[in-house]
Amino acid sequence: MERSPRIDGHTMLAGVIGWPVAHSRSPLMHNFWLAQGGINGAYVPLPVRPGAFDVAVKGLQAAGFRGVNVTIPHKESAYRIVNRLDRSARRSGSVNTLVFAADGQIEGYSTDGDGFVANVEAHGVAVRDGRALLLGAGGAARAIAASLLDRGVQVVIANRTRARAEALAALLEGIEVIDWARAGEALAGCTLLVNTTSIGMEGADDAAFPLDLAQADAGLVVCDIVYVPRQTGLLQLATRHGLRTVDGLGMLIHQAGLGFEKWFGAKPGIGPEVEALLDADLRAAHAGG
Ligand code: ATR
Repeated sequence: MERSPRIDGHTMLAGVIGWPVAHSRSPLMHNFWLAQGGINGAYVPLPVRPGAFDVAVKGLQAAGFRGVNVTIPHKESAYRIVNRLDRSARRSGSVNTLVFAADGQIEGYSTDGDGFVANVEAHGVAVRDGRALLLGAGGAARAIAASLLDRGVQVVIANRTRARAEALAALLEGIEVIDWARAGEALAGCTLLVNTTSIGMEGADDAAFPLDLAQADAGLVVCDIVYVPRQTGLLQLATRHGLRTVDGLGMLIHQAGLGFEKWFGAKPGIGPEVEALLDADLRAAHAGG
């Protein structure tokens, strides 16, 4: 499996633009998939300072890159630079994946929402109809809400700062807003509960969720987009209540896989191997922390 990539005149190139970018797990995942599939490609970290985004993107495009992932702090610049915004990007108001198309245009996609849904479905849970309670109203919540609404799922959002949830509801038709403190009242009848806040993340505040899982339907699936640690407090609690859970690592993998397919023209192997690779890498990085 481990082999040095052969870089030659046909090597397809992609990467991730961020500042800082050294912590990104994207190179690990994409290069694993390239090696696994025997694909002549390479995926590199691209540290680009704030202010240098546009010149970097134009340069990469001119140098023949297939495209890039975009992470903090360049997501807004990415939204502005694209010539063609995919529906996923328009609906989520963000761009995390650029594709340099053959006609010279830059296409922008947001793969977070569809990556979330693909991960839940990979756990054997059909995402259609039903009702989801989303905790949080940041960028991740918007992308996930858009993908859920597109699949006919009813979406209720509770956010500590209610005004942010209302602003989101004004952008995406069909969202119901409930006060953070009353989120538990919306739980009965829900098929999905999704934490998109930073609660439970290593190093973040250890706030409590305003809900009692004893009030959930037995079929509720509890999802967390936090993946460090993988078994967040919320997921542990859900397991103790006998509820099914979906952790955040799979979303990271699935959203990456959608970009991989666009650049390299092949479906990556989304399975236990890449999951184990990432899991081991995250554990090593956080060991003893
Ligand atoms: P992202 O765009 O990645 O989703 P974000 O915009 O920073 O990230 O959003 C983080 C989310 O976590 C927000 O919904 C935030 O609530 P506020 O809008 O009220 O800030 C939520 N959050 C963070 N810490 C929280 C806490 N201690 N209690 C409740 N919600 C919290």
